[in-house]
Formats: sequence, C-alpha cells, structure tokens
Amino acid sequence: MKVILFGATGMVGQGVLQECLESGEVDTILSIGRRPAGRQHPKLREIAHQDFADFSAIEEQLAGFDACFFCLGVSSLGMSAGDYERVTHDFTLSAARTLARRNPKMTFIYVSGTGTDSSERGRTMWARVKGETENALLKLPFKAAYMFRPGFIQPLHGATPKTKWLRSVYAVIGPLYPVLKALIPKYVTTTECVGRAMINVARRGAPHRVLESRDINAACREG
Ligand SMILES: NC(=O)c1ccc[n+]([C@@H]2O[C@H](COP(=O)([O-])OP(=O)(O)OC[C@H]3O[C@@H](n4cnc5c(N)ncnc54)[C@H](OP(=O)(O)O)[C@@H]3O)[C@@H](O)[C@H]2O)c1
Repeated sequence: MKVILFGATGMVGQGVLQECLESGEVDTILSIGRRPAGRQHPKLREIAHQDFADFSAIEEQLAGFDACFFCLGVSSLGMSAGDYERVTHDFTLSAARTLARRNPKMTFIYVSGTGTDSSERGRTMWARVKGETENALLKLPFKAAYMFRPGFIQPLHGATPKTKWLRSVYAVIGPLYPVLKALIPKYVTTTECVGRAMINVARRGAPHRVLESRDINAACREG
C-alpha cells in the first residue's frame, strides 16, 4: 500500500508513521509537512511544503496513492474561530480535494476527535468546525473516507506531544492509562492503535464511516 501522511511531526502522526514504517502492508510513505519528521527510512520520502491552502506546486507528486492518513490538526485553545477554521477545515479540504482529483481509488482517513458535531450547529466552536470538515470530506469522490474520533490518546513508542504544557499533562495522566482503560475503555486508545487501525481500515474498510475510540481499538486488533 502507498500512503500519504500529513502531520507526521505531531503526536498522533509520529505514532502513525511508526506503525507505517513497521507494517508489512505499507510499501511507501510520503510525508507532507512544513518541516521534516526527522526520521530516515527506506520506505519514507518527505516533501516540505509551506502553503497548505494550495497544493498545486506539488500536485504532480501526489498521484498513485492508495491511502491518506490525515493527522494534521491544532488545538482550538487560544485560537480565533477564523484561524482554527483555516487550519482545521480549509487546509484539510485543500489537501483532500487535490488528492481526490489525483487518486480516485484512495481511502482517506481523517483524525477529528470525540464530541465532533456532525450537525454543524452546536455551541462548541471546535466541534462544529470538525463536523463541517468531516461532512465535506465524506462528500468527496474518494473510494472511501473514514473519520477517526479518538478521545484520550496515550502516546507510545516515543510519540511526544508538541507543547510543554501538554507534555506535563501527559506526564501526570500517562501513568493512569491502565486505570482509564479499565474504567472508560470506550474513550481511550493509543498512538499505536490509531496507526494500526488506519492501516487495517485502509486495507479492509470498516462497518461505519465514523469510528469512535472503541471502533478504532476494534479495527486495531483486526490486523
Ligand atoms: N492528542 C490527542 O490526544 C488527540 C485526541 C483526539 C483528537 N486529536 C486530533 O488529532 C489531530 C492531531 O493531534 P496531535 O495531538 O498529533 O497534534 P500535534 O501534536 O499538535 O501535531 C499537529 C500536527 O499538525 C501540523 N500542523 C499544525 N498546524 C499547522 C499549520 N498551520 N500548517 C501546517 N501544519 C500544521 C503540525 O506540524 P508542525 O510540527 O509543523 O507544527 C503537526 O504535524 C488533531 O486534529 C487533534 O484534534 C488529538
């Protein structure tokens, strides 16, 4: 399988990249980011791209792929609605529209999050924007598109949150992961499971277009 990965420098993307590198099902990974993921591997090629609203300059290089794992995203904390929408909705749709044009047989997997508002009318800004993004992706002419909605994600195998405050949060919550998993298994997953689930869903599909943590964990085990 030939895979395009967005967000490989982030916590989720690092985990997904690790699983792709280890998987016998993935032959090629093209990582697209504004800075390198910092990994060297025979399967991995990287494109440094700065304008995520416009992929025309690299469009020729984006054909012939089986799957896209879209892990690019931001926290809405401290962001204006306009800035959050630009990164979350506009960048995602700009990439997805380009890929759909070039890869009609592609499976596109987007990481949104639990609580995403498919109605696009709720009170919570981030949930509305994620919902609007998911709904637009589901209308594009991909072979298939799946929306991953994880809740708490435990970083594994060296995947690290980007900001200092999030690293502190994970330092406190991380050791409690076994307890959280026992108490609320429906709301927790790991970076490893997200990556494995993406590969399995791209390969074999899934019963539903929207996957919550429990569905991600089930898809992770199917490999
Ligand atoms: N972490 C969680 O527990 C969790 C739970 C549920 C859902 N999610 C969702 O999963 C997605 C990824 O989360 P994460 O925790 O991996 O985030 P992260 O660690 O902050 O990584 C974000 C990724 O997006 C890229 N990015 C952000 N802003 C960008 C911009 N303006 N232009 C180009 N690239 C940009 C970053 O690239 P740079 O390195 O260049 O900044 C990085 O690769 C998000 O949509 C998030 O809502 C995360």
